[in-house]
Amino acid sequence: MSVRRLDPVQPESFKFTRDNLKWAKDTIRKYPAGKQASAVIPVLWRAQEQAGGWTSEPAMRYVADLLDMSYIRVYEIATFYTMFQLSPVGKTAHVQVCGTTPCMLRGAEDLIKLCKRKIAGTPHTLSEDGNFSWEEVECLGACVNAPMVQIWKDVYEDLTPESLEAVLDGMAAGREVKPGPQVDRQFSAPAGGPTTLTSLNGSKPKAAAKKSSSKATAATAKKAATAKKAAPAKKPAAAKKAASPAKPATKGKPKAMKKPAKPDNLKLISGVGPKLEGVLNELGIYKWHQIAKWTKTEVVWVDDYLKFKGRIERDDWIAQASVLAADGPDEHARRFGRKAK
Ligand code: FES
Repeated sequence: MSVRRLDPVQPESFKFTRDNLKWAKDTIRKYPAGKQASAVIPVLWRAQEQAGGWTSEPAMRYVADLLDMSYIRVYEIATFYTMFQLSPVGKTAHVQVCGTTPCMLRGAEDLIKLCKRKIAGTPHTLSEDGNFSWEEVECLGACVNAPMVQIWKDVYEDLTPESLEAVLDGMAAGREVKPGPQVDRQFSAPAGGPTTLTSLNGSKPKAAAKKSSSKATAATAKKAATAKKAAPAKKPAAAKKAASPAKPATKGKPKAMKKPAKPDNLKLISGVGPKLEGVLNELGIYKWHQIAKWTKTEVVWVDDYLKFKGRIERDDWIAQASVLAADGPDEHARRFGRKAK
């Protein structure tokens, strides 16, 4: 953890608004007599919110007086907990980028590079317009949707530099930006759709997959149409850069086949769920042997198309598909530990 010091430039004073003072007194009353100091963190947090996202030294003294605590006790708390910002932060957004291992392995470094380019070269520094700032923080508890950032009380997950840039641009333009996963994932459910309990309540997984994949196709088409409309407003170079990940080059697209009478069960490949199977089918991929023969370029193309950031290689789709195609599901289950369905 970095050394945390009070900002050299401090306001003259701090005072709660009438509403916040009432809220603070009500909060303090919740604690038993003699234990009011226990309210220090919520009261300091309210002071930080009132001051636009940072805790000044006069605010610490004000809270200490309110709770009848010595100033040093409150300074210790505010300088220990990194949730308290000791310098002014961006008025629109203070971006806390998680830099702990799972997020780092999934691309947090690229998010930090974007913050350096778009906001300021160093953390805890205001952007030129004073509307944005950023910092790297430790795990924020959303590792399953890594990489992620927290902005105020919301988290934005499954990010790429492009989607984080879209979040920041949306905020800068005053648009409402949806928090949570920035990919087609429900909360923390598996990316690409459920892989277990897919036939609960008698529902038919294949029908569900078909429905959700056509929904995904409609959403993708809508997204593409919006991006096309918005393109002329951007500088040509920037527009090209933003559009490229959503529309991979045709070069490298795996060869498609017509739907055979007996498609293979692609869901036997670990990492492929009903929804993802639907997407692969739309690409004309129905058989294990097709995947087994993918070249490096084709893997990169599909990985890019699915925004997987290397998951095809990590889950070893090629090896899995080769065993399925050559030796069948039982051998695949023996070698990769997944039961045949
Ligand atoms: S490692 Fe980033 S949220 Fe846990």
